[in-house]
Amino acid sequence: MRKFLLGFVVGIVTLPAGAFAAAWLGWLPTNANATPTALEQAFAHLALDRAAARRAPHLANPIAPTEENLMAGVKLFKGDCAGCHGDPNNGEKRESENFLYPSPTVFALHPPRKPDYQLFWIIKGGVRYSGMFKWDGEFGKDASGKDISDEKIWTAVTFLTRLDSLPPAVAAEWHKKGP
Ligand code: HEC
Repeated sequence: MRKFLLGFVVGIVTLPAGAFAAAWLGWLPTNANATPTALEQAFAHLALDRAAARRAPHLANPIAPTEENLMAGVKLFKGDCAGCHGDPNNGEKRESENFLYPSPTVFALHPPRKPDYQLFWIIKGGVRYSGMFKWDGEFGKDASGKDISDEKIWTAVTFLTRLDSLPPAVAAEWHKKGP
């Protein structure tokens, strides 16, 4: 029992000490132009998926998937998000570029499968240790001084969760080259 306890204590001290030493010695890679290993990707996605499932409040999406709202969603996405997440015309190129670590998911190739409220929560708060910053407060205010960020984020979510079933005019706008 004593040996076991000693081993246990040595174990919990050695692991963080080893990680600290590796960082202090400069052994850990910090460049962004690389592809994460499959293990790292699986772990990071597990953490994000489970955090969104546990922490995101179950809010109802106030933006209905009307043609007008979906069109606003395409424009917003092309203007604010596609620079990282790509679009149907540059998706494959974007995906192979390794410009961020981890690479932003190209939704045109891999439509998100999470429910609306989880996507809203992720976009609003951002994703730690990735290039995904928070969009809360980033969209400014309307003429009456009201913050319009939530509405804009929901508009992006409505578009993202309907990527597979866009009405023809919206799909044409999405596939059109340029902004
Ligand atoms: C500066 C680059 C950048 C911009 C701009 C950006 N993102 Fe991201 N986004 C990322 C990265 C990096 C991740 C983390 C990797 C991943 O999961 O795709 C991410 C993750 C996400 C996720 C989670 C995907 C998942 O795995 O569940 C969503 C949803 C998302 N972004 C939506 C958006 C929306 C909507 C916008 C525009 C309002 C946006 N992003 C703008 C880089 C960006």
